[in-house]
Amino acid sequence: MKLVVGVGLRSGTSYRELRDLVDATVAAAGGGDVRVVVTVEGRETEPGLQRLAAFLDAELHTTPVSELARHPAPTPGPRVERLTGTPSVAESAVLATGAELVVPKRRSVNATAAVGRMAAAPGYPPTERDVVHRVIAERRDVRRGFVDRPIADDVLTRVLESAHRAPSVGLSQPWDFVLIRDLATRRKIHDLAGAQRDAFAASLPPDRRQAFDGLKIEAILDTPLNIAVTCDAGRGGRHVLGRHADPRTTWFSAAIAIQNLWLAARAEGLGVGWVSFFEPGEVAAVLDLPAHIELVGYLCVGHVEEFAAAPELVRTGWAARRPLAWAVHHEQWGQRGVTSIEHDAARAGENAVRAVGRQRVRVIVGGDPADYLDHADALVVHLGADKPIADFGVLWRPARTPVEAVELGVEVARDLALQGVGHLALQTVEQSEVADGLVRGLRAGARACGVDWSG
Ligand SMILES: Cc1cc2nc3c(=O)[nH]c(=O)nc-3n(C[C@H](O)[C@H](O)[C@H](O)COP(=O)(O)O)c2cc1C
Repeated sequence: MKLVVGVGLRSGTSYRELRDLVDATVAAAGGGDVRVVVTVEGRETEPGLQRLAAFLDAELHTTPVSELARHPAPTPGPRVERLTGTPSVAESAVLATGAELVVPKRRSVNATAAVGRMAAAPGYPPTERDVVHRVIAERRDVRRGFVDRPIADDVLTRVLESAHRAPSVGLSQPWDFVLIRDLATRRKIHDLAGAQRDAFAASLPPDRRQAFDGLKIEAILDTPLNIAVTCDAGRGGRHVLGRHADPRTTWFSAAIAIQNLWLAARAEGLGVGWVSFFEPGEVAAVLDLPAHIELVGYLCVGHVEEFAAAPELVRTGWAARRPLAWAVHHEQWGQRGVTSIEHDAARAGENAVRAVGRQRVRVIVGGDPADYLDHADALVVHLGADKPIADFGVLWRPARTPVEAVELGVEVARDLALQGVGHLALQTVEQSEVADGLVRGLRAGARACGVDWSG
């Protein structure tokens, strides 16, 4: 049986006392393999406890008082509460690991111990767990504020090792990392990004273009190191486990390596900016990549003055974050528990963001996308079952029923609101129940997010 032992102790409690107490408590559980000794944060420095954990060959975990308080103990003690701020250390610490309490608190003169059975492998202790969530929340795409400080070799090695530890389909590890420091090469890449920036700007309606002019989209020349992350889609040959049915998994794997790199870099205080303003083949040509190696991501890496609390696109009002509740569906698409009812704008707007921009978009429901190619403010919603060939200016929403069309309309309006749209000019070209449903959904979604609409 895998056990966790919770220990509360006075400062200076001897190893001998702790050992006798824990031996007796574990024996009361019928014996077992103690994997974790856990105590309240601050007590992990006690020599007696450290020696006990070493003797048991167990991990020594700590739990903050705030976390202990969330796991009420069956045997609370007012005296413990006075001393530690929580009614029980030993029992609550066991429960906080997710273990089932099998031996309630036992006492010696200076300590208490309780034993739990680990039904499943424990997570990290709360303080370490919080660091993981923190690095995920505080990772940023960084394009400005880089400082003139070289990246130490050991730091870069740790970051690349983390990237290289990413999961991959069939363990094919399809990525490689091309480290680019040479200024002449970076200038060529910079020129390519500049050309794509101009092309994107030219595709925007005037108000959106103005907002885009204020955005920085790369730091190719501002960073000492650029990393091109590539993918070899055929790596490992014919029988790579799990790739046969879905070759995209190869690129997913390489993208995950980038995320690992990004997170590890954040932990090291390195900013990373991902640049995708490229036609990948052009970058491959500058880097002289073999033809079978494709670019997945181009990263600008360097030390930074600071990491912003929120994404730059959020801070500048270009876009907004999507509430988690919009992204979670229960059993079936659309079952989010937040929307789907066109008449219930309050529910459609649950967790809603308010429209972040004032961009006006003409939404044409049905119709031929080719008619609107030159209209930067137009978005054709194509309802047909066949996926349109071009996706530029066309949103494919093949609603199967009028009810589903309402749902998809709500989604479209809300997701446009996240991308700076403040006004929807609705135009219905197709006459059908599905088209009507979609328009009703668009109106409900717009209303819920504070987006104006007409038509
Ligand atoms: C695949 C991908 C491509 C991206 N391309 C660019 C880019 O070309 N230029 C840019 O400024 N940011 C780019 N970004 C960064 C995103 O804008 C950024 O991740 C997003 O706004 C959220 O901000 P955060 O990463 O700081 O949380 C890219 C991100 C990803 C994942």
